[in-house]
Amino acid sequence: MLMYGWMKFVEVAPERYDWAVKLMTGGRLDKIKDQIAERIGPGDRILDIGCGTGTLAVRCLKKGAYVTGLDSNEFMLEQSEKNAMAAGVNDRLTLIQDSVTQLCKHFQEGSFDVVMSTMALGEFPREYLEYILRDCKRILRPGGRLIIADEVWPERLLPRLLYQAGMVLFWIPQFLLLRRALFPISDLRGIIEAGGFEVGEVVTSAASSFQLVFAENVAVEPKPFAEAPREYEHMQPAHNF
Ligand SMILES: C[S@@+](CC[C@H](N)C(=O)[O-])C[C@H]1O[C@@H](n2cnc3c(N)ncnc32)[C@H](O)[C@@H]1O
Repeated sequence: MLMYGWMKFVEVAPERYDWAVKLMTGGRLDKIKDQIAERIGPGDRILDIGCGTGTLAVRCLKKGAYVTGLDSNEFMLEQSEKNAMAAGVNDRLTLIQDSVTQLCKHFQEGSFDVVMSTMALGEFPREYLEYILRDCKRILRPGGRLIIADEVWPERLLPRLLYQAGMVLFWIPQFLLLRRALFPISDLRGIIEAGGFEVGEVVTSAASSFQLVFAENVAVEPKPFAEAPREYEHMQPAHNF
């Protein structure tokens, strides 16, 4: 939650975003992005949801992939373009400004080998996440990979209690600063499985409050929705800048 709050705070200045996030996370998020890029190969067709300043996209472009970055914030996308140009890899980058709730409007079934997202899906409540993951399944090819890294509620009791104590201390100042209620994702693995994916490796770090999940699009139907948000199709980006 702390990491998220800081990221939301610095999103208003995309040119400072990268170093501000590096400072806050002590370079941990960069390592996670390196871990993701290690699994990417030349020619992979990738969608990066909530791509931000494109730091993960650039890593994948350097591996020879074709990356589409989708983000609701035009300034983040501009920074993505600049970062990709500076690295000399912008010729294989496509940028789309829209909400993650509009995936099916932009992409055909089976369009991607990999759909990935770091620190973006936590913006949404569970019922939206369920929809988003079903859209991800549709636009991924069979056997394609879903890679998600985000802040989560710790699964084990002691880290969970410590995390709750942190929430009590920081939630109100964060809400006052951002005017938004941010919560970590509860049961990320379960939501991904319910979307019709098989979860493989799960890397848990930062006192159990951060997970990197690798999953595969297998031939399994998603489970019925627990709760269907009525306005999903028309949902606008979660916030204005
Ligand atoms: C915390 S930043 C993470 C950025 C990047 N993935 C990273 O790891 O550095 C969250 C990103 O999600 C984007 N975002 C927020 N709501 C969105 C939405 N509804 N649809 C698409 N992108 C969204 C924000 O503009 C922002 O760039």
